Amino acid sequence: MIYSRIAGTGSYLPEKVLTNSDLEKMVDTTDEWIRERTGIERRHIAAEGETTVDLAERAVRAALDAAGCKPEDVDFIAFGTTTPDLWFPNCGVLLQARLGCRGVPAFSVETACSGFMYALAMADKFVRAGEARRALAIGAETLSRITDWTDRSTAVLFADGAGAVLLEPSTEPGILSTHLHADGTYKDMLYSGGGTDARKTRRAITMTGNEVFKVAVSTLSKSIDEALAANHLERSALDWLVPHQANLRIIQATARKLDLPMERVITTVQDHGNTSAASVPLALDYGVRSGKIQRGQLMLLEAFGGGFTWGSALIRY
Ligand code: UT7
Repeated sequence: MIYSRIAGTGSYLPEKVLTNSDLEKMVDTTDEWIRERTGIERRHIAAEGETTVDLAERAVRAALDAAGCKPEDVDFIAFGTTTPDLWFPNCGVLLQARLGCRGVPAFSVETACSGFMYALAMADKFVRAGEARRALAIGAETLSRITDWTDRSTAVLFADGAGAVLLEPSTEPGILSTHLHADGTYKDMLYSGGGTDARKTRRAITMTGNEVFKVAVSTLSKSIDEALAANHLERSALDWLVPHQANLRIIQATARKLDLPMERVITTVQDHGNTSAASVPLALDYGVRSGKIQRGQLMLLEAFGGGFTWGSALIRY
């Protein structure tokens, strides 16, 4: 029986930091409101000309270094993003050209905030099936490019960054299970237009925040129960929750439902803001590099976003 395990993680954040007090000068908001309602204190914003693939490449090279692998070892690339460099070729292909692993499958997954969860699930399946040996799952975003910087309801939330995970085959389960879902009837609650649909030309992220909030809390809780039940595990078995970093209040509500103290939850939302598909791999890499998440520990990753789409993964690190 072949499983996949995490061989290495990596992440990258652009240099420029935008604080809440910077935002106070841009829109009608306050540091107090942003902290209380979201938990966000600062976020990183890509430099002019810096693209999603630029950020992803840095994260991937860090993950490869951590795994002791070379770019040419990679034989599968699944790239989650909502903010691609181009309409096509997709970001996976653009990244593949930079890494030099010509000929291997490379594609992007546009499932908004759960893009990394979808990418990870696919990478896991290919490794388990014996069709890939070194599979990259990436989440990278330059959401600053699709943020309306005059709209206070969204400008304070979204940010840029990238995270990556390299999977490799293992005789012991690393990834125990992945669970993906979508419900397109919620398509109008959170979206970015500007595609080929002439009825939705607004490119900036549009969100009915408080409605999304309610569905996110109840859905994430069910998603976690689903992952634990599939593995016949109790909530107490979890060492770490690595949640999507959209809002500290959503994370706290999820942790409460799990009876998990906040000390066992990786939170980066205060420093990263909401980086959509990049959020979970960024948090995971922070958890690993800070020494919190140790080899052998059990962690649950989850994300929820536009679509709605959502997913979870139970992983023995
Ligand atoms: O990552 C994908 C999934 N996304 C999420 O999970 C995001 C889910 N939603 C949220 O995180 C929260 O709903 C928000 C942070 C977006 C908003 O927080 P909220 O507590 O739900 O606030 P609200 O939208 O109900 O707005 C409350 C008030 C409104 O004023 P009134 O109508 O009560 O006078 C807003 O106009 O807060 C006002 N407001 C602001 N005030 C100061 C909205 N944005 C701001 C702002 N600064 N930046």
